Amino acid sequence: ARPSPSPPRQPYDDEVPATAKPPRPSRQPLQPPYPYPYRFLLNEPHKCRERAPFLVLLVATEPADTAGRAAIRQTWGNESSVPGVSILRLFLTGVHPVFGAPLRRVLEEESALHRDILQQDFLDTYNNLTLKTLMGMEWVSRHCPGAAYVVKADRDVFLNLAYLVGRLLQPQLPPKRDFMTGYVYRDTGPLRSKAYKWYVPRQVYPNDTYPPYCGGPAYVLSGDLAAKVYAVAQTLPLLNMEDSFVGICLHALGLSVTSSPWGVFNMHRLPYDKCKFSRLVMVHHYQPEEVLSLWPHFQGANVTCPP
Ligand SMILES: *[C@@H]1O[C@H](CO)[C@@H](O)[C@H](O)[C@H]1NC(C)=O
Ligand SMILES: *[C@@H]1O[C@H](CO)[C@@H](O)[C@H](O)[C@H]1NC(C)=O
Ligand SMILES: *[C@@H]1O[C@H](CO)[C@@H](O)[C@H](O)[C@H]1NC(C)=O
Ligand SMILES: *[C@@H]1O[C@H](CO)[C@@H](O)[C@H](O)[C@H]1NC(C)=O
Repeated sequence: ARPSPSPPRQPYDDEVPATAKPPRPSRQPLQPPYPYPYRFLLNEPHKCRERAPFLVLLVATEPADTAGRAAIRQTWGNESSVPGVSILRLFLTGVHPVFGAPLRRVLEEESALHRDILQQDFLDTYNNLTLKTLMGMEWVSRHCPGAAYVVKADRDVFLNLAYLVGRLLQPQLPPKRDFMTGYVYRDTGPLRSKAYKWYVPRQVYPNDTYPPYCGGPAYVLSGDLAAKVYAVAQTLPLLNMEDSFVGICLHALGLSVTSSPWGVFNMHRLPYDKCKFSRLVMVHHYQPEEVLSLWPHFQGANVTCPP
């Protein structure tokens, strides 16, 4: 989720003169209303009715990012890219804070064509990313509880699902339970200065450290855990950092994340190298257009990699 350009932001409550609004001590400006019955504007409730997929891929995108979704469908988001493994891809979006109404028809058309968009009626802003993730968890728990695994990814990644499935998830084994992995952050804490984009006020999260959590660009969890995360999120104060918040949910469930093999999830950009990229799951900071230009080479039989 990190440095994607944030849409024009709405004024926070604390920028509104104190006289203009009654005080609302229980919720801070960065905390969207939650729990709250956000409604699905676009949904795919029957996608998983016939057969539960091995993996549900949830990709966070902004409503106007039609081109990004098109590139992702043809590259790492291709549902048939891992032979013998059923993958179900869904894009997660909210409502554009300025162009919500004109984009509605565009999104409806794209949705009718591809049947892979979930949209709820919250504003699609940086500080609402947690709602986007929770919408995905809600969908899995309501409409696809039999999925073995769930991957949440941001748009700006290079993702190698074949390696994730073959190396970490191993479909020949019984699905893991209460399992989550990715790039694990330990002993990190909230930034308290308002100068940061990722600033978290003490009123929103009082502790100085977060429980261990998986970095937001891409993480994987077992299907059973997606439902538990969604359920426990209804009972916790929401944090605008979606990845830390999922770690807090696990902590509240008495669970924790599992470290991944070293070098498999990369939070820094690495230069493209077919052999190297074929032995990792994720590299952050790859835009969809760039992945689109690399993908034929990555998928091609052109380069033979040493065993
Ligand atoms: C997805 O991958 C399959 C198998 O490699 C390929 O036949 C298909 O054209 C791809 N689909 C898209 C939309 O690129
Ligand atoms: C999050 O979405 C809610 C519902 O649309 C909206 O009221 C709120 O202003 C948004 N919060 C932020 C920080 O953008
Ligand atoms: C916050 O700190 C308290 C007191 O040390 C601890 O009991 C609690 O588990 C912590 N919460 C999280 C989410 O780490
Ligand atoms: C395969 O290799 C040849 C020779 O190096 C190159 O011209 C061609 O573009 C490559 N094909 C792909 C799909 O990268």
